[in-house]
Amino acid sequence: MSGTDLDRSLVLEAVRVTEAAAIAAWKLVGRGDEKAADQAAVDAMRTALNTLEIDGEIVIGEGERDEAPMLYIGEKVGKGRGAKIDIALDPLEGTTLTAKAMGSALAVMAWAPKGTLLNAPDTYMDKIACGPGFKEGVINLDASPGDNVKALAKAKGVKPADITVCVLDRPRHSEIINGLREVGARVYLITDGDVAGVMNTAEAATGVDLYIGQGGAPEGVLACAALKCVGGQFQGRLVFRNADEKARAERLGVKDFDRLYTLNEIVRADAIFAATGVTTGALLDGVRQEAGFIRTHSLVMNSASRTVREVRMKRPV
Ligand code: FBP
Repeated sequence: MSGTDLDRSLVLEAVRVTEAAAIAAWKLVGRGDEKAADQAAVDAMRTALNTLEIDGEIVIGEGERDEAPMLYIGEKVGKGRGAKIDIALDPLEGTTLTAKAMGSALAVMAWAPKGTLLNAPDTYMDKIACGPGFKEGVINLDASPGDNVKALAKAKGVKPADITVCVLDRPRHSEIINGLREVGARVYLITDGDVAGVMNTAEAATGVDLYIGQGGAPEGVLACAALKCVGGQFQGRLVFRNADEKARAERLGVKDFDRLYTLNEIVRADAIFAATGVTTGALLDGVRQEAGFIRTHSLVMNSASRTVREVRMKRPV
């Protein structure tokens, strides 16, 4: 362990935090109330974080202090003793998925040593990602979607028609989707939840090779932490729709608005990443209640050791 690595015993602490958020959100699955589900997850995650012997600071959270009373950017969490940690979190990634009882909603969180996570503003980010096992630079955000498919197909030794690309189903992605289909790629459309979308590229069982499209910048940081733990690749560029968004970014220290960030520039040290399923998706089962027990399914990973643990928790209701 180097001086800047996080202690590996934190891995199990991290998964307890996402389990707590997922269980709280699950109680609101299918009830049509996105805000209530998010609030329940936020409360549970904050309570769980504040029991820990860490000196944590939220760098990716529920928003800026004036708009988010809890888990806002800059909030200190933990008991203030122990490791100094940057925390990126999304207590409920997929609020709409949860409200509508659709699959792939997650509670997610990443930890890295203080000062090593990109303080991304709450704007959009253009993203491209692939899983592990390829030469650095096989994907390129500035190349066309079709050219990225061809490059990845060549690296995999398959045809472009054998490549599956995950994309958020949004009108803004119609050109990307057309470009992908023109070269014969399969397009796996998701309605929400691009942290899971990016993570799909790292798990062969999902069948997803590539992720392309524009989603939340905070979700981009979380997805990067996950990919860093498994050796995947990611590139992102912040997208600004107006002067207010640029001002938010400036306040967080962004100087070059057009900068292309690679994975290691977004997550600059070894990180711990944890995700617990709220509703069942390609990667994780959702929370279940059966015969007096609550069950959860989580992934918790440590980039320092490239360890991925699948954790199934069961406890009395
Ligand atoms: P929420 O959980 O905050 O609702 O975010 C869901 C999500 O689908 C993210 O995964 C994604 O990055 C973002 O919303 C996409 O934004 P938009 O819905 O504006 O396209």
